[in-house]
Amino acid sequence: MATRILAVANQKGGVGKTTTVINLAACLGELGKRVLVIDLDPQANSTSGLGLPRQTGTSLYRVLLRERSVHGLVQKTVAENVDIIPSELDLAGAEIDVARMDGYLHGLNMAIAPLVRGGGYDFIIIDCPPSLGVLTMNALTAANSLLLPIQCEYYALEGLSVIAHIIKQLREGRANPTIDIQGIVMTMYDARTRLSPDVVAEVKSHFGEKVYKTVIPRNIRLSEAPSFGRPVSQYDPHCTGAIAYRELAKEVIARELAEHPAAGAIP
Ligand SMILES: Nc1ncnc2c1ncn2[C@@H]1O[C@H](COP(=O)(O)OP(=O)(O)OP(=O)(O)O)[C@@H](O)[C@H]1O
Ligand SMILES: [Mg+2]
Repeated sequence: MATRILAVANQKGGVGKTTTVINLAACLGELGKRVLVIDLDPQANSTSGLGLPRQTGTSLYRVLLRERSVHGLVQKTVAENVDIIPSELDLAGAEIDVARMDGYLHGLNMAIAPLVRGGGYDFIIIDCPPSLGVLTMNALTAANSLLLPIQCEYYALEGLSVIAHIIKQLREGRANPTIDIQGIVMTMYDARTRLSPDVVAEVKSHFGEKVYKTVIPRNIRLSEAPSFGRPVSQYDPHCTGAIAYRELAKEVIARELAEHPAAGAIP
């Protein structure tokens, strides 16, 4: 299978991007897929959530500034088959410094090209910060597709037209003519409320088949696991959150194979 690059993005904060990156990556790894997580958020939550301590000089910052290569930045995580390029606070400076470079939208794309060519990964999953700044735009330029987490809450649809418009612009402006929304994952579903099913129905009425069948429940285990530096599949393998992310991983694989049957060829 050729490497598929998924950007997990939504400019809204706290919708479950990082939780999805950590746990989707771990579940894909459990299923035997080789995964690289790229933590592009200066908050570094997926870095710590996958068991890595805070370190300096280990993020993509200097690579994006073309001061060094990506070589040597990939580290192992606590999850089987899952590597990471960690983040640290210095990435916050990238929003300003990288924007000064020529062709800055393509910085990440160029930086990770050797890893894509190397063919060592089935999936590269990028955790984006909660903005549509330079880092997220770099992720969307490098990605084959967008994985969009949406929280089951009242204002769920607010702002979605903005990111949908950006995807359209990237395609038409030729910065990334093949990017698509790979899927929408509904997060923090609470079966005890009327609101959650209503929100899912409304998102489906707009995005139809793009919405994954798997819905991620609100599950306290998912919020506890990061403080132990573990994906939920290790922290509590049988909880509802772990089961849901395992299902999502299968759905992501099935969708990728359905849409890219020629997987295996590197363009
Ligand atoms: N399904 C869930 N059940 C319970 N808690 C969850 C769930 N998903 C995420 N959370 C919690 O909600 C908070 C926000 O989640 P997360 O950090 O994944 O969102 P985010 O979109 O990455 O946020 P940010 O925009 O700040 O990067 C965290 O405290 C997380 O533990
Ligand atoms: Mg996050």
